[in-house]
Amino acid sequence: MFLTREEESILEGENGPGYQKAMEILVALGKIFDAQDLVPIASAHLSGVSYKTIGEGGLSYLRELRDRVSVKVRTTLNPAGMDMERWNEMGVSEEFARKQLEIIDCYRSMGVDTCCTCTPYLSCNIPTLGEHVSWAESNALSYVNSVIGAMTNREGGPGALSASLLGRTPRYGLHLKENRRATAVIEADIEGDLLSHSLLGQVVGRKLGSAIPYFVGISPGAEGLKTMAAAMAASGAIAMFHVEGITPESGEQDLAGLERLHVSMDDIEEAREQLTTGDVPDLIALGCPHLTVAEVRELANLLKGRERRGDTEVWFCTNREVVDKCKEEIGILEGFGKVLCDTCMVVAPIEEHHSCTGTNSAKACNYLPGLCHQRVVCDSAERLMELIS
Ligand code: F3S
Repeated sequence: MFLTREEESILEGENGPGYQKAMEILVALGKIFDAQDLVPIASAHLSGVSYKTIGEGGLSYLRELRDRVSVKVRTTLNPAGMDMERWNEMGVSEEFARKQLEIIDCYRSMGVDTCCTCTPYLSCNIPTLGEHVSWAESNALSYVNSVIGAMTNREGGPGALSASLLGRTPRYGLHLKENRRATAVIEADIEGDLLSHSLLGQVVGRKLGSAIPYFVGISPGAEGLKTMAAAMAASGAIAMFHVEGITPESGEQDLAGLERLHVSMDDIEEAREQLTTGDVPDLIALGCPHLTVAEVRELANLLKGRERRGDTEVWFCTNREVVDKCKEEIGILEGFGKVLCDTCMVVAPIEEHHSCTGTNSAKACNYLPGLCHQRVVCDSAERLMELIS
C-alpha cells in the first residue's frame, strides 16, 4: 500500500506511540483488503463506548491514549451504558458509572464530541454527498452510505478511532464507486408503519447476508430508512442499500440480471413471530436507533390524554438535541416512562433488572437475547404503549 512520507514517519513512531499504533492498525487493514493508499476523511463516528461492551480491556487502551493524542476530524460517539445524568434512576451501579464516566472523559480528552447517539447523522455529525468518512455503528454507517451518499466501510471501533486520530482511512470497499452498485432487487409489498420497515430490513438482511439491495415499492421517511438500515445490518451485514427514487445513488444503478426477492406482509409477520420469544415485557424500550423529533412528537400525540397503568418500566431512548427541541412532548412522555439520553436498551446493563423486553426495533430484537439475556416481545410502538396506558 502506498504511504506518503508523512504517513511513513507516523508509522515509524515520530509522532509518538498513540499515532504509531493507529497507523499500524490502518496499514494492517489496508493490506488485508488490498487498499492502494489512504484516503482523507471528513468525519468519524466511534462505537466501543459502553463499559458493558468494551470492559477493562477497552478502558485501559483508552487510558493509554488519554491526553496523548487528539482527533483530526469531527468525531462523535455512539451510545454509552447509561444516561450521564440519570444513571442512578436506571439502576446502574456506582462502580459501572465510575468506569463509564472515565471512558467518556478519555474520549473527551482526545477532542471527541461526546454526544453519545447512534443517529448523529440527524444531529451532531452530518456528512455530505460524496464525502469519505470512517464510521462505526452499523445503522449509522449504512444510513450515511445509503441515504446521504457519503462513503464509509463497515468500521469497527479500533478502525474508526485510528482513522479519526489520523484523518484518513484505507481506500477499499465502499470508498470505491464501483463497489457501491446494487447486487439484488427487493420488491417490497408492505404496509407502511415503522415496525414493517424494521422487519423488512430483518427479512432482507437474513436472506441476503452482505449484499447491496435495491428496494422498489416503498417510500420510507427518515425514520423508516434508519430502522431498515439498523435491521439489515443486524440480521445480515448490509452496509449500504438503495431505494428507488429516494436514495442519491439509486438513479445510477443497472438492475439487469440481478437476483430478485419479493417481500410480502406474510414475510413481515413471520419475521415478527420469529423474533418474539417472550410474552409479557417487564421493560418496554423504544428508540433503537435513537428516537427522532418526529417519533417523539408522534409518541406524545399517541399518549396525550391517556392514563398510565401498571408498573412496567418504560424507556424512550433518544439524544439531548431531540430533548431540547421537544420540551413539551418530552413532558408528556415522562408521564409514562423515562426519556433517556446517551444510552440504549442494548448497551445499558438491563440484564441486572429485567428479563423480558418489548420493542419495535428488529435490530434490538437481534441483540437483546445474546447481549442482554432477554426474552423479547417484538411489536409496534402503538401496541406496546397499549400495555401501559
Ligand atoms: Fe442505537 Fe443501541 Fe439500537 S446503539 S441502533 S439504540 S442497539
